[in-house]
Amino acid sequence: MEALLEEVQRVGYVNKPVAEDIDLVAEINRLKKEKNAVILAHYYVDGAIQDIADYIGDSLGLSQQAAATPADMIVFCGVHFMGETAKVLSPEKKVVIPDLNAGCSLADSAPADKFAEFKAQYPDHIVLSYINCSAEIKALSDIIVTSSNALKIVESLPKDQKIIFAPDANLGRFVSKKTGRDMVLWDGACIVHIDISLEKLHKLRTDYPEAKFIAHPECQEHILSEADFVGSTTALLKYVVDSPEQTFIVGTEAGILHKMKEAVPHKKIIPAPASQNNTCACSECPYMKMNTMEKVYNAMLYEQPEIIVPEDVRLKAYESVARMLELSK
Ligand code: 13P
Ligand code: SF4
Repeated sequence: MEALLEEVQRVGYVNKPVAEDIDLVAEINRLKKEKNAVILAHYYVDGAIQDIADYIGDSLGLSQQAAATPADMIVFCGVHFMGETAKVLSPEKKVVIPDLNAGCSLADSAPADKFAEFKAQYPDHIVLSYINCSAEIKALSDIIVTSSNALKIVESLPKDQKIIFAPDANLGRFVSKKTGRDMVLWDGACIVHIDISLEKLHKLRTDYPEAKFIAHPECQEHILSEADFVGSTTALLKYVVDSPEQTFIVGTEAGILHKMKEAVPHKKIIPAPASQNNTCACSECPYMKMNTMEKVYNAMLYEQPEIIVPEDVRLKAYESVARMLELSK
């Protein structure tokens, strides 16, 4: 066991070979029952993982599930801060993630010591942090928000309330513009959403003039100003399903197309183009894509890598996350 833990700490995941002839779907389902485990998956992970998940959702939906699940073990297929949030909300449960290396550029942009110094410059401001941040940043925050509830939460605050918004400056700018509230922004960004190319988008819109362009608020202002609709991943999915339109260009991580295509197979759904010339001509989060079926299986079998949050940090982080859940009702 000690050797396994050491290896997990070193490489970030359980590096055990998985037999080639194994039926991973059947084995994962068997382990789910045997261990009373629940698999929570974000829309950005591979379709195969979404297909074996018990719940697929956006950051808000996933934290609501993590808080409410009766399971003994949460297998979080997403990125590190999501597993941490689940642990903050359900400390009595074992929370495992397939790969500890699955980080997030937004969470990484806000180291706790630097953020504490920044916060100290604005003693009369409250701190609203986007859920894409570490447990330490959540512990330094007053209220957590996600892309589905940020507008509602900001609007619920008194008009004269001074606000720091961290770590996503693009989401902060979007919320500030929509609510008319001035906010002090931490300068973080999502490497995936800021990489959507305006030039290639214009070309695509010329090729598909009938298409609605929809985008996630982590995109840059010049991309959002082109959008017919802006919303969280769940809101984008709902828009594509409910809209009478037939063609959509989707400005977010391409994993969301899995559920969109499943829900409305007759509609044409095109991922917005990334500036780099990659094979999918779309935006892919390298962290989300670190989740593989083999790593999910090993994480369930060996119950590692386990998410541990120091109790003093957890208790403070719990306050800001619980406030968000309360304000989202
Ligand atoms: P939502 O699913 O909450 O919209 O968040 C998107 C995202 O970038 C998650 O990392
Ligand atoms: Fe972080 Fe962006 Fe990846 Fe979401 S898509 S996990 S915000 S890097």
